[in-house]
Amino acid sequence: MLKWILGKRTRTSDRGVSLPSGNLPAHVAIIMDGNGRWANRRGLPRVAGHRAGMSKVREVIRACDELGIRCLTLYAFSTENWKRPPQEVEYLMRLPEEFFRTEIDELVERGVRVRFIGDTSQLPPYTQETVQRTLEKTRDNHGMIVNFALNYGGRADIVGAVKAYAREVASGLASWDELDEARLDAHLSTAGLPDPDLVIRTSGEIRLSNFLIWQAAYAELWFTDVLWPDFTREHLEQALRDYQRRKRRFGGIK
Ligand code: IPE
Ligand code: IPE
Ligand code: MG
Repeated sequence: MLKWILGKRTRTSDRGVSLPSGNLPAHVAIIMDGNGRWANRRGLPRVAGHRAGMSKVREVIRACDELGIRCLTLYAFSTENWKRPPQEVEYLMRLPEEFFRTEIDELVERGVRVRFIGDTSQLPPYTQETVQRTLEKTRDNHGMIVNFALNYGGRADIVGAVKAYAREVASGLASWDELDEARLDAHLSTAGLPDPDLVIRTSGEIRLSNFLIWQAAYAELWFTDVLWPDFTREHLEQALRDYQRRKRRFGGIK
């Protein structure tokens, strides 16, 4: 799986000029932040920002697919976002249903395989139904992987991996002595996917907010003041161009 993702050739932008081909990240992860502030600035309720942000999800998936990005992870709801007012939480929980109702045909047409990371068992039943339906409809696709992080927290991901490993130890399938980074990694929600090469965060906040904290250990980080509902393909290409200029050393010397 990893070999397949890394091995696939990349393409330049459809407009051709703006992005040199090659050296594109295999895995881009995005912290889609700033919806509430976008709405506030327009005198609109916060949820209007979430609605506007949804169309950006469509735009970014299309762009990544056309650019040849093999894997895209989108932070949609964190384990800490339950602290928000119940009406906002409910609105956010209803968005996947609407999003996939309108987008599923195009996603299938593009061959996109949708995955979810995070504890989906704690989502309301209607959101869980959407999750199941979407998984089933895109299960046999072999194109870009799009991971939606829903009720996702990096710390919870690590705790979940340790518990899963502990169950294997208890049943005699594994031993604590053998536990290493690769084995823990294989029990995370992102098992089988390459680590994110590039993490993008919108809205001017310079933090990870519990997103992929294990997996992003060596990710390149790119921050912009642009609020998520104002994010465009041009901003994405700007981040990718910046990524192409970075020198990744992974602790070594180049
Ligand atoms: C990101 O936008 C969406 C979620 C966290 C669900 P916010 O809702 O956090 O927007 P701001 O940060 O308050 O502007
Ligand atoms: C991170 O944004 C979570 C998502 C984008 C889903 P938050 O708005 O929740 O992060 P903080 O609270 O500013 O760190
Ligand atoms: Mg925010």
